[in-house]
Amino acid sequence: MLHQLKEKALEAIAQANDFKKLEEIYRQYLGRKGELTKILRSLRDIPEKERKEKGNLANQIKKKIDEAIKNRTEELSGQVKLVKEKGWIDVSAPGVLPLEGHPHPISLVQQQAEDIFQSMGFSVVEGPEIETEYYNFDALNIPQNHPARDLWDTFWLKDINLLLRTHTSPMQARYMEKHQPPLRIIVPGRCFRHEATDASHDVQFYQIEGLMVGQNISVVHFKGIVEEFLKKLFGPEVKMRLRPGYFPFTEPSFEVDIMVSFADKSGTNSANCKKLGKWLEVMGAGMVHQNVFKAVGYPLRKWQGFAFGLGLERLAMLKYKIDDIRLFYSGDLRFLRQF
Ligand code: FA5
Repeated sequence: MLHQLKEKALEAIAQANDFKKLEEIYRQYLGRKGELTKILRSLRDIPEKERKEKGNLANQIKKKIDEAIKNRTEELSGQVKLVKEKGWIDVSAPGVLPLEGHPHPISLVQQQAEDIFQSMGFSVVEGPEIETEYYNFDALNIPQNHPARDLWDTFWLKDINLLLRTHTSPMQARYMEKHQPPLRIIVPGRCFRHEATDASHDVQFYQIEGLMVGQNISVVHFKGIVEEFLKKLFGPEVKMRLRPGYFPFTEPSFEVDIMVSFADKSGTNSANCKKLGKWLEVMGAGMVHQNVFKAVGYPLRKWQGFAFGLGLERLAMLKYKIDDIRLFYSGDLRFLRQF
């Protein structure tokens, strides 16, 4: 009877084609109420001599069934199953690579911009994303109740006087308070504005602030450096124009537009991009207002400098021919995998 049971169990195991079936077989023979378990339990009621003999055999069969189940489990989960099902394995087939991360397009453009400015002698510094009202506004010649504050739709924090910085300009004041001219810095960083979004505006975006202060620095230096930066980033075809603008912390102030032509083949999707061949505003800029120098403790009229704040997403849109700024933070992998 024990031998019959063994044959039946081993045959069922050999024919089992999934783990569920194997589990069932285990329960049927070796489970708490399993056929073999019941036999093993009944041994105590039979005479000692017979018990020993039958016990040994039953234990051996138990071991055999256990092993057969283990082997079949391995077979089903491994290559053996593949070979049995398909009859062959392609040993030259490439393995399945794990998903690898890569830099975001904004990081790519930020890195290139940092490299270009560093090659022109600028240092890269960073500032806090949560700012005080003083550095975001007051130190930049925008006193409380000044209508110019409305230019920046601000996310205020519950804590009084704290906000999410609306631009990277607060770092101008923070840096100049601690350093004396001549100085040349850029400040890449995330900014936040409580604005309605559209194809070129988002509630969060990156700016790169630039600041150069020294003696006899003029608009000519500003134009020369920004033009050189743009040519290195987009190639010699890029066009730039200055329009008069207004910022309380610069005088005179400009808005800078650039145009990347269809001839520039540096990116992807060039044929479809609506931004190509048109002027796009990419930065605000100007000559540093003497009131800002005053706020950081510099003597009046000793130094001149220029400052600018450029929108990194706008550069990335032109570089990679992207029509809608909101794609950058959509988390859409189909978009992100292109970079
Ligand atoms: C400023 O933020 C000034 N701090 C720039 C500046 C610095 C002027 C130093 C003078 C001296 P503005 O608000 O224009 O300026 O923004 C500058 C650039 O940031 C814009 O040209 C645009 O490229 C980008 N930008 C502004 N708002 C958004 C937004 N909501 N989404 C995406 N990019 C934006």
